[in-house]
Amino acid sequence: RFNAPIIVVSNRLPFILVRKEDGTLERKQCAGGLVTAVCPSVIECNGKWIGWPGIQLKSEDEVIPESNPDDKSPTAGLLSNQVEPVQVEPKIFDKFYNGCCNGTFWPLFHSMPDRATFSNETYEAYKQVNDIFAEKILTALRKCLAQLDEEGRMDAAPLIWIHDYQLMLAATTVRRVAEDEGLRCKMSFFMHIPFPSWDIMRIFPWDDEILEGILGCDLVGFHIDDYCLNFLDCCQRRLGCRVDRSRFLCELDGRTIHVKSLPIGIPYSQFAEMSRNAPKVLKEKEQQIILGVDRLDYTKGLVNRVKAFERLLEKHPEHIEKCILLQVAVPSRTDVKEYQALKEEMDQLIGRINGRFSKPNWSPIRYIYGCISQEQLSAFYRDSAVAMVTPLRDGMNLVAKEFVACQDLSDPGVLILSPFAGAGGMMQEALIVNPYEIEEFADKLHRGLQMPFDERLLRMKHLQRREQAMDVTFWLNTFLSAVGILPCDVNYSP
Ligand code: UDP
Ligand code: G6P
Repeated sequence: RFNAPIIVVSNRLPFILVRKEDGTLERKQCAGGLVTAVCPSVIECNGKWIGWPGIQLKSEDEVIPESNPDDKSPTAGLLSNQVEPVQVEPKIFDKFYNGCCNGTFWPLFHSMPDRATFSNETYEAYKQVNDIFAEKILTALRKCLAQLDEEGRMDAAPLIWIHDYQLMLAATTVRRVAEDEGLRCKMSFFMHIPFPSWDIMRIFPWDDEILEGILGCDLVGFHIDDYCLNFLDCCQRRLGCRVDRSRFLCELDGRTIHVKSLPIGIPYSQFAEMSRNAPKVLKEKEQQIILGVDRLDYTKGLVNRVKAFERLLEKHPEHIEKCILLQVAVPSRTDVKEYQALKEEMDQLIGRINGRFSKPNWSPIRYIYGCISQEQLSAFYRDSAVAMVTPLRDGMNLVAKEFVACQDLSDPGVLILSPFAGAGGMMQEALIVNPYEIEEFADKLHRGLQMPFDERLLRMKHLQRREQAMDVTFWLNTFLSAVGILPCDVNYSP
């Protein structure tokens, strides 16, 4: 299917490494749509995955273990020689990851500049780490080309596919060196978070370098048109690029860069099947579950959501003892101050509401501070009457899609969705609610809990049809077709 290898580059490898007591390393799986979608292709085309393994290795050459024989995850077939772990000195990595990626770019790109901090020092670390990644990419590229040349496949050009806001500068160095050394390759980038408007982007003091970095690639993908248009606007206004907004093209130094909106999907059938087999969540049948599943992140709108739930109980006391809010909050970026403050705020808010409304045999909020498996999640999705996916801002949001895939049409649940998630643009059959409007939010919750069967069914059928068709494989194939690697006719001209 592929006529050249793919080199995938993301901040995290598709699995993390843990050191066992005997000192040896072991792979630990992390769930995620990107891994499920992309890993099989990397395996199939004998490609590579470059990323941070989550720990410090003893040396650059420490051997990465092969997968366990009982590993059934999508990374099981990824051989150790296909994995390139990136190692960075811990102090630099901290400034890069906690400082620049999650202290600066994450809030800024989610249009929350007041939460962002700007510092020369952390940006220097960002540049340094991006250069370390670039070196790894170039080494992998040289190896791939040597192999292709040995096989006489001079027309085949490996695809370098860089992911997300942690690596916006890597392409600059790769392109410069590849051009100097005459290394043939195709370069693409996919952004998994929003791209902000020009008046937000311009707050970042080195915005030109970031824009040029992304434009180092030939194909740049975002989830939705709005992010593409924001990006094109920034390129035009900051760099003076010529842009074509109707065909999503941008010109820089005589090169044409294709910008494309490609909404990511989920492994739909996998979730549907998991939900058919997973055991029931709650024994108490009479209670309706209102579900929330998020990383504990201020972009996810958790505080607004819990307040809307409190307002529901105030306005409609008939729901007391008849429903619960089941909120899963996955610990995330716990070294960053904003995340620590949110944890405190949530603990207090939930404690206060539970104290206010609890009865001897009922508490309104069940709060899980931890990560649970997707098998268990699939049962949560299936058994909930309502799911609240109500971020203040979110690139796409996969939870909304997973909830839909897990619904049993004999008793479908209701999705309440924020228009500020990438998913909100497409999933119009959900109940759309502005998470800042607590009063309306509570009304929508009430409506969701009471929605008649026929309406729930109609809405859910439409939602399911779309998500099934536009699943993660569709996303991957569309991306690869756009880059010209599928079908097998690379049109590379050096
Ligand atoms: N997830 C999980 N266990 C949990 C909570 C979430 O495996 O306890 C997964 C969930 O199934 C989804 C992902 O984490 O695939 C969250 O993706 P999303 O796009 O919603 O948000 P992100 O965390 O990427 O901002
Ligand atoms: C979002 C980002 C990813 C990131 C993930 C988890 O989905 O788009 O790039 O990996 O959050 O965040 P973490 O900081 O734990 O990698």
